[in-house]
Amino acid sequence: MTISEFTDGPHRLDSSSDTVVLEFKHGRIPEIVHWGTRLPDDVDLVHLVRAMETPVPHGLLDTGEALSLLPQLGSGFTGHPAVQVQRGNSDTITNFGLTEYHADRSQIAFTLTDTDLAATLHLKLSLDQRTSVLTSQISMTNTGADGLQLDWLAGLTLPTEFADLLHFNGRWALEFQQLRHYLASGQLTKENRTGRTSHHSPPFLIAGEKGFAEHHGAVIALHLAWSGNHRIIAERLRDGRIQLQAGVLLAPGEISLKRGESWHSPAVHVARGERGLNDVSRKFHAFVRQKIVPAGIYSKPRPVHFNTWEAVYFEHDVEKLKQLADLAADVGVERFVLDDGWFKGRIHDKAGLGDWEVDRNKYPDGLAPLIRHVIARGMEFGLWVEPEMVNSDSDLMRAHPDWILGIHGRNQPLGRAQYILDLTRPEVFETIFQQLDALLRQYPISYLKWDANRDVSHGFSAGRPASFAQTQALYRLLDRVRDAYPEVEIEACASGGARADYAMLSRAERIWTSDCNDPYDRQMIQRGFSIFFPPEVMGCHIGPRRAHTTGREASTAFRAYTAFFGHMGIEANLLSLSAQERAQVAAIIREHKRWRDHLSHAQILRLEHDDSAICGFVAIDQQVALVSVAHLGSSPYPLLAPLRIPGLKGGNWSVHQLNASPGALSRAKYTPPVSRGEAVIMPAPVLCERGLPLPVMAAGEVAIFVLKHMDAAND
Ligand code: DGJ
Repeated sequence: MTISEFTDGPHRLDSSSDTVVLEFKHGRIPEIVHWGTRLPDDVDLVHLVRAMETPVPHGLLDTGEALSLLPQLGSGFTGHPAVQVQRGNSDTITNFGLTEYHADRSQIAFTLTDTDLAATLHLKLSLDQRTSVLTSQISMTNTGADGLQLDWLAGLTLPTEFADLLHFNGRWALEFQQLRHYLASGQLTKENRTGRTSHHSPPFLIAGEKGFAEHHGAVIALHLAWSGNHRIIAERLRDGRIQLQAGVLLAPGEISLKRGESWHSPAVHVARGERGLNDVSRKFHAFVRQKIVPAGIYSKPRPVHFNTWEAVYFEHDVEKLKQLADLAADVGVERFVLDDGWFKGRIHDKAGLGDWEVDRNKYPDGLAPLIRHVIARGMEFGLWVEPEMVNSDSDLMRAHPDWILGIHGRNQPLGRAQYILDLTRPEVFETIFQQLDALLRQYPISYLKWDANRDVSHGFSAGRPASFAQTQALYRLLDRVRDAYPEVEIEACASGGARADYAMLSRAERIWTSDCNDPYDRQMIQRGFSIFFPPEVMGCHIGPRRAHTTGREASTAFRAYTAFFGHMGIEANLLSLSAQERAQVAAIIREHKRWRDHLSHAQILRLEHDDSAICGFVAIDQQVALVSVAHLGSSPYPLLAPLRIPGLKGGNWSVHQLNASPGALSRAKYTPPVSRGEAVIMPAPVLCERGLPLPVMAAGEVAIFVLKHMDAAND
């Protein structure tokens, strides 16, 4: 529909549960005036928009400040603008207006034009019918003769009335730590300049009603699907309103559009919920399952992994690896992943990256004997690679010292003794692809663990900033590998969990959540991760008894039941585990296999408990619920309050503790029936309102409960 064909008027987007109402004023940029529970079809939108009109207080410009989908200087907006460009080396005022739109009930596409500037924006909003996740995509085109420098273009600007913010902090081996911030005034700006999705500032932001929690409070949550530099802003405007913006962080001069050229921002995905964080997680998990993660993931159960990293590091010995493979197969592993250390010159982390050929000192007959052994034991074979990186001690770097990102002739610091290859150069891209292709052609490799262990601190190519182009080149490389080898699954990893985002996840079946395999920390890392990601994509490993990243000891049960609730694996030297420990690991893996399909479709609810040492969650469907209660610290009282389980279907549920063991949980003089492993019957309202009684637990213990609806229990 062109502008001449529509008069002022609102438009609505509807999904199964939500309605978004957008207001149009002739030629002006649309505003979201309402986003909430689905409205009846017969609501009079014109009337509604009138009812929602905002006053213009004294002290502001006469027209007020439109908090539209593109707040901009030209309309007198004094907050952070959604678009900033330079024409002819100077900042300028943008004044885009609506010139065209196309809409139906689930999506709306706008053309916004600034004739004086000679630039056009295309903005599309789609409300996913089934999951109610709203996706925004925006691009800018230069229609003028001179270059147009783009400094900032928010992938989405969203008004919100919520000032209670939740964002993530983190570091290597401690990702997804939740932080709260009340936005009384000014901005909370989260920037990532590491060129990877980042440990410390992943591209997620949640704003909610004051005091929102897992099960209560209205919440809006957004994610920029991008694996490079970004900026996320929450800003309290001077008039009290709040805007959220998320977009790619561009270096000055990084994007300069010639006439007719366009720049596309990555998508922003947003979900809202009336009933707390679990409500938005429900929507995001469904969205990931239906729209993001490669669909093949659901064609087979997630295979249990053995990963060699913490078992052998760089000391690869074929015979030892075969022994590990034997033990791995015995405990139920289905995929053996050969981590770092297998390729030419890789005796430590200072050499070899860039030379993706098998190290003949470690593997005189290549990888074939090991792979044959692994496959003969009924397992798939996976291989670790770090294709974007190069060590100066490598044949590739010796031959092509100029193939790295950076400014030619200027020194740059190393990160883990490595540089980043400039994948924006076709010859570099092609060389790396050919090396991966040769490996995948030569060997029956079913899985690549794709790692990236340094920040893109010097994102320059041919003298110009190129971080954005490098991230795009990474996607092209992944896409090319996937197209050539569609049956090969990929894991996204960057020094643990620094590449957890939906753009990577649309090209990977698994995300390596963290290098921390210590269950004490890992429980909370997984809890944060689970807000935006479902369990089947969350790589979780049973580490050694003494965690390598923290030095803390944890029992086999605690480690194994922590890994149980994601895409499970082992990352420990099985040769140093006792037969009894291996038998326990095998038993818990067997149990996991009974539950993994459930985990791949269940809704995950993070449970709340008064005692901050308790970390509880449930994987729930209509018939069955699997509850995990981990005790992470010391509690002030011996008796733990019951754990309330919301979300259960009405009726009676049979409840039993899966891992009840008088030995492990003998911390009481009297242990009630459920903690002794007996099944009890509990009505849903009791479980929801009073809660599931917990055993006496000490730090480092975990209790797993199975709840079956009596309809199912009687099957
Ligand atoms: C970082 C990853 O997170 C680890 O799991 C491991 O693959 C190492 N890199 C190998 O260098």
